[in-house]
Order: sequence, then structure tokens, then C-alpha cells
Amino acid sequence: MSTDRQLAVVVLAAGKGTRMKGDLPKVLHPILGRTVLGWVLAAVAPLDAQRVVVVTGHGADQVEASLPAGTLTARQVQQRGSGDAVAAALPALEDFTGDVLVVNGDGALFSTDTMRAVVEGHVGRASVATALAIRGDVALPYGRIVRGPDDRIEEIVESVDATPEQLAVDELNAGVYCFDADALRAGVPRLSDDNAKGELYITDLLAIARGDGGRTLSVVAGGPEELLGINTRADLADVEDVLRRRVLRGHMLNGVTISMPDTVLIEPTVTIEPDALILPQTILRGDTRIATGTKIGPGAGLHDTIVEHGASIERSVAREARIGVDATVGPFAYLRPGADLRERSKAGTFVEIKNTTVGVNAKVPHLSYIGDASIGEGTNIGAGNITANYRPELGRGKQRTEIGRNVRTGSDTVLVAPVTLGDGAWTGAGSVVVDDVPAGALALARARQTNIDGYAERVVGGAKA
Ligand code: UD1
Ligand code: CA
Repeated sequence: MSTDRQLAVVVLAAGKGTRMKGDLPKVLHPILGRTVLGWVLAAVAPLDAQRVVVVTGHGADQVEASLPAGTLTARQVQQRGSGDAVAAALPALEDFTGDVLVVNGDGALFSTDTMRAVVEGHVGRASVATALAIRGDVALPYGRIVRGPDDRIEEIVESVDATPEQLAVDELNAGVYCFDADALRAGVPRLSDDNAKGELYITDLLAIARGDGGRTLSVVAGGPEELLGINTRADLADVEDVLRRRVLRGHMLNGVTISMPDTVLIEPTVTIEPDALILPQTILRGDTRIATGTKIGPGAGLHDTIVEHGASIERSVAREARIGVDATVGPFAYLRPGADLRERSKAGTFVEIKNTTVGVNAKVPHLSYIGDASIGEGTNIGAGNITANYRPELGRGKQRTEIGRNVRTGSDTVLVAPVTLGDGAWTGAGSVVVDDVPAGALALARARQTNIDGYAERVVGGAKA
């Protein structure tokens, strides 16, 4: 910052969000894994303000619980407007001198650069009250920044209070302000609710400061998309779309290929190395980390999952899993917490794996449930195998299945845990394995087949063949 003046930030997050038509406080609606308020706070953080105060009110307990520990908050008891909200922050600024950046808590698209431009314009031009102006469509329901002959802000007029002439002004109030702390303290007690909404408007502080002879300037910065406050769920979707594209663009510029990006959603917490390929309808969330040379999708849904280089995942879901080097997943696999696929291993089609290590080169290709198990290197699990690991008579926890290296299980094997299959063991198709199988042995655990001769003739009057 080009100044040694002190900076405080106040985020207004007490509003009811009536137009969202629901119970969740507006600023807590999630967008790409963060709350609306979380996006605002993330954009503010790099400004390194001496203090950040979040004004809460509607759903205050819930909003405060969503904040990182140690965040300063102030309560606005009744939601009497944005001017009253900033008033509620004043006690937290009692001993503060310097500049106060005030930001609408529903402005998830404000960028750090834009807010920095507001502070720098305010300080650099010795303003006492500054508002961020963005040129936009005059049909938008935003405040109009009305300038006087000297180019200073005369007043900001809400669209519902504006004359037709004022409505034609295309410099719109974005909801980011900077005030000299003393001017803020002087202006707030003089706000009035004599307006169309019957609220105390923060925007009236500009006209009050001007009336006191102070400089009131607008900073024109940022892009038109930053104007989008979130007032309705339609706005929420529009904002999500902008943020989603911002995140994708960052990855693409960093060397990640994303096919049909309109169908891809990646949360900002996800990391992807260059030369990964992200295919359509893929959703990556949380602390997911994707290495180079991977092929993710189409239709991959990964949450808190690590994907190592060369791995590929098609039409599959994974949560808290690790997919090792050159491993393949899907189509249609479900990896649950603790699924750990080692190098070149495979989880194939209609396969569910939980809390299980699948060894190097080991394969679970078709129609299986494998939970609480370890599968050794080079083992192949036949189609339709199940680890039956819930044994209430043995206690509450799940029982483990240990499968050695180079094991071959037959189709439709049920492994009733706890059970161990030694290295190189085999099981016959349809076996229900309840006892350990020694290394190299074949377990056959099924009833012998009986053929009843002449059955068709006797019972249903002859074979149709
Ligand atoms: C506000 C501005 C408008 C601007 C627009 C930009 C006012 C009077 N008008 O309108 O000029 O163009 O933002 O998006 O501010 N809040 C409280 N307590 C309250 C009322 C509001 O904390 O009692 C908070 C809200 O949570 C929100 C912010 O103040 O973050 C603005 O309130 P909102 O009702 O969304 O104002 P807009 O009508 O969008
Ligand atoms: Ca708003």
C-alpha cells in the first residue's frame, strides 16, 4: 500500500437477504465451497488491514460460527439499513484513526485489486469519503453516483429514490467505500431514514461529508461483473458462474487443458499441475490435488482426493481417496475415504472401495465391494467379489480382510472377514470364504453340484429343445 496510514475494513453482513426467500442468511450461501462472505473476506485479506470487523445481525450466531476464529465482529441488533450496519461497527473502531474501507458482504466478486484501488484513490487524493463507481447498465437496480460540477460526488441516490434524470446516470455504486474514520464517526449520527425504503443508507454519508466541506470522490475501477451483488438466487447463480470461470481460466493459463469448460466446476482450493487433462462434466472439490499427465473425466467427481501423475478417472466419484501413479478408475467406480490405489492399480466398473489399499498392479475390475481390506501387489479380484466385514457378534468395528500378493479370486467370492488369503492363493468361483487360505492354496467353499436327470420330462412334461 502506498501509504503508512492505518487501514480498517468493515464488512456489512447483517442484512436479512429477504429476496433470497429462505432461512439461510444470505452471506452464508455457498459458492464453490466458500460462503459468499468467505469470498469477500478472502479478497480483503491481502490488504493487510490493521483490523477487520464483520457486522452481523440476521442469523448472527450462524454467521459468526462460519468465521475463522479470532475474527472481530460487531452486532447490528435491528436491520435498519446499511448505514445503521456501519454504525454498529463504530464501537469496534473507537480508538482507530486512519481510513475505513467498508464493503458490502454480498459482493463476492469484488477483487483485491479493485478494493486496493479504492483505498489508494482515497488516500492519494486526500478524500474523506470515497465510493467505488462502476459503469453499468442503467436498468440495474443500483445506487446512482451523482457528481457535482466540480466532479466530486454530490450524493448517491438509490434507484428507488431517483428522479428519471438521476436514473440515466450510468455510474453505479458498487458497494465499496472508504471513509476517513473521523468523518465516518461524524456522519453516522446524522443519517435519516426518510427515503423510499425507510432505512438508514450508508450511501447518504457521501452527501453528509460533502455538506461538511470534505472531498468526496469516486474511484472508477474494476469490471462490470464486480457490480453483481447477491440479492436473489438468480444473482447467486450468475456470481457462481463468474467465479467458476475465473478459477478455470487460472488453471488454463497455468497449462491445464479443460474441455467444455462450461460443464466443469473446480473449487478454488483445488490444485492442478500443468498438462493435466480435465474432461467435461467434472467436479473437483475441497483439498483435491491433481498431478501432471492425468486424465480426469468425463464425469469425474472428486472431493479431497489426491491423483498422482498418469492416473485416469472416468465417470467415477471419489472422496478422501488417493489414486496412485498410472492407476485407472472407472467407468462408474466409487472410491470412499481411505481408498488408496497404488501404482498402476485399477478400480473398474461398478466397484466400490473403502478404507482399502489396492497394491501395485492389483486390479478390482468389475462389480465388487471391497472395504477395510488390503490387497497385495499383482492380485486380481474376480468379478462380483464382496468383503463381508460387518460381524456384529465380533464387536462394533468392521473386520479386516488381508489379501496377499498375486492372489486370484474367482468370480462371486464372498470374503467373510476377518480372513486372510496368503500370497498366490486362489478361490473358486462362488466361494464363501470364512477360513484363512494358505499361500498358494485353492479355496473351494461352495456346495457340490447335483444334476437331477430327467427332471424336465417328469415335472413339466418335456424339454422344449
Ligand atoms: C446497496 C447500496 C446500493 C448499491 C448496492 C450494490 C445501500 C443503501 N445501497 O444496495 O447503492 O448500488 O448495494 O450492490 O447501501 N446490510 C446490513 N444491515 C442492514 C442492511 C444491509 O448489514 O440493515 C448489509 C447487507 O448484508 C449487504 C449490504 O449491507 O451486504 C448492502 O445491503 P443491501 O440490502 O444488499 O443493499 P442493496 O439494495 O443491494
Ligand atoms: Ca445487495
